[in-house]
Amino acid sequence: MAEIAVEATEVPAQLPHIRVAVLGAGKMGGTLLQAFLKQNLFAPDQIHATVGHKERATALSTQWGVDVSTDNLEAASQADLILLGVKPFQVPDLIAEILPALTPAKTLISFAASVKTRAIEDGAGMEIGVIRAMPNTPAALGAGATALCRGRFVSAKQMELAERIFETVGRTVTVQEKLMDAVTGLSGSGPAYIYIVIEALAEAGVKVGLPRDTATLLAAQTTFGAAKMVLETGYHPALLKDTVTTPAGCTIDGVMELEEGGIRVALIKAVMRATERAKQLAAG
Ligand SMILES: NC(=O)c1ccc[n+]([C@@H]2O[C@H](COP(=O)([O-])OP(=O)(O)OC[C@H]3O[C@@H](n4cnc5c(N)ncnc54)[C@H](OP(=O)(O)O)[C@@H]3O)[C@@H](O)[C@H]2O)c1
Repeated sequence: MAEIAVEATEVPAQLPHIRVAVLGAGKMGGTLLQAFLKQNLFAPDQIHATVGHKERATALSTQWGVDVSTDNLEAASQADLILLGVKPFQVPDLIAEILPALTPAKTLISFAASVKTRAIEDGAGMEIGVIRAMPNTPAALGAGATALCRGRFVSAKQMELAERIFETVGRTVTVQEKLMDAVTGLSGSGPAYIYIVIEALAEAGVKVGLPRDTATLLAAQTTFGAAKMVLETGYHPALLKDTVTTPAGCTIDGVMELEEGGIRVALIKAVMRATERAKQLAAG
């Protein structure tokens, strides 16, 4: 049977003129890089990523089809946009390493937790645009929540670029840098709180007779659906709760138990404690 010839349709990348370095393409850096490729934000030949180990670089290069090396300076030299994805304690050394490649025309985006834009600006020793981001783990499925804040030398165009970058893995908000610890306490740590809620609801389902897998699916999909209602209707969560709570019905009994168990105060305290801890980590 004759094969049907498939014409190669080369769709240009959305941002074809920007060369990108992802320095520290680990879990989060790798998630971003793969989202760029999947959504065609950048073409593979616009990206140069680095990791710490040579064997890993070789394996990832084959897996992703992009340049992956351990040479941060080379990657940064070729790039207009440099993403910093190493562990927070490695950021000062990384900046020192790529210093010869930095110019005020380049853009640095760091998603290293608790590393301040000022520290990166000072390390660079020039008026360079530094944007700091705090993504969270659901970014791996394109459902992340990322807060961005700007350093002192960031243009509107650079902020727009940072939003495009993180919109490939979910939703973004922009906050003042002093609120980044609060973001860490809420959306950075938040998935853990919600997993506990889902686990507890599933456990409750088991208690009232549902098979565990059914209970877990119902609990997770209900959490997903409720979040979608809040995001897409724009209604206040209290109003949405009221629409489920019929007079003298079942839900109000459940709500009463939650209030008696102090669920609101527990969640508020969880975010407060995690925010405090993030402040301590930032202080070193
Ligand atoms: N994971 C998250 O959900 C999340 C959320 C918010 C913020 N962050 C931030 O993202 C950063 C990375 O976290 P992660 O979870 O992605 O950690 P990770 O998976 O360990 O990634 C770190 C990457 O850095 C590479 N690396 C180590 N030394 C290097 C060097 N000298 N030059 C270039 N690359 C080097 C490692 O390479 P090897 O694998 O070869 O050692 C690894 O690929 C952290 O600063 C963290 O605070 C992460």
